[in-house]
Amino acid sequence: KKDILGIAELSRDEITSILDTASIMKRIIQSGDKKTNYLRGKTVLILFYENSTRTRVSFELAAKYMGADTININVSVSSVAKGETLVDTGKTLNSMGADVIVIRHNMSGAPHLLAKHVNASVINAGDGMHEHPTQALLDMFTIREYYKTLSGLKVAIIGDIYHSRVARSNIIGLAKMGAKPVIYGPATLIPPEIEKMGAKIAPTINDALYQADVVMGLRMQLERQKNALFPSKSEYARFFGINQVNLSLAKKDALWMHPGPVNRGVEMTSGVIDGFNSVINEQVTNGVAVRMALLYLLAGRENMKVSRHASGTV
Ligand code: CP
Repeated sequence: KKDILGIAELSRDEITSILDTASIMKRIIQSGDKKTNYLRGKTVLILFYENSTRTRVSFELAAKYMGADTININVSVSSVAKGETLVDTGKTLNSMGADVIVIRHNMSGAPHLLAKHVNASVINAGDGMHEHPTQALLDMFTIREYYKTLSGLKVAIIGDIYHSRVARSNIIGLAKMGAKPVIYGPATLIPPEIEKMGAKIAPTINDALYQADVVMGLRMQLERQKNALFPSKSEYARFFGINQVNLSLAKKDALWMHPGPVNRGVEMTSGVIDGFNSVINEQVTNGVAVRMALLYLLAGRENMKVSRHASGTV
């Protein structure tokens, strides 16, 4: 593949291959000698039109660990602020020798448009309400690390599904991998097409959480709520919040997840976020390994093979 634009475009085998490569990358990170040369001579440009902490920093770290030259473009002080179009900005970066462009944009489909106009590989780091494929890959990686498989697992996804690109990518990916995504949230924030993507809609939060292997909270997307009726923060916490009481319905060892950033006390209580079963910090750690894997698979193959790390010798 030239680009990673969405989980919808990836086959089950491709997802497995990315997760397997990420396992190798995680071993490299854990070895303490994080610097590799797999992307030596390659240039990774990070172009974010929306705010980010986790995705932006982990892509930059991943590119640096892989030995690439990397530049984080600050859109607010670039020529975007003078009215340059996305395609013209992309072509400009392409002309400067970008091998990979990582883009986050508030418009759904922006990475797809960019990918058509540049030779560089394009990675979608979140496009509007559409997809956030690298988040779903790191979530699936985290779940697979614990359960050794995704097949047959009940994954409860709770909250603002309508605005959530994380939910969309996870539902598509989990269903492809044989898991059973079950969703619950405010009725106005459940898109009708969600069942076609492979999710079941639970009638109550208790039904969603009952015997779940994984419970995933979602951020309340205040910045995207222009056209949707939405509960207040206190109503949301009361009727859709994940707490230690309703989590007792899930399996005892269920994983508690959230893509972040989290509104403490709204989507999840602090007791859950910092609780024993919470893997929120591990999700962030795994994000670097998954993004290293993607950079390697898109741009690193020619330099050298990563397979020598598969045996665990680094
Ligand atoms: N999960 C996620 O995409 O977080 P950031 O917005 O901080 O990148």
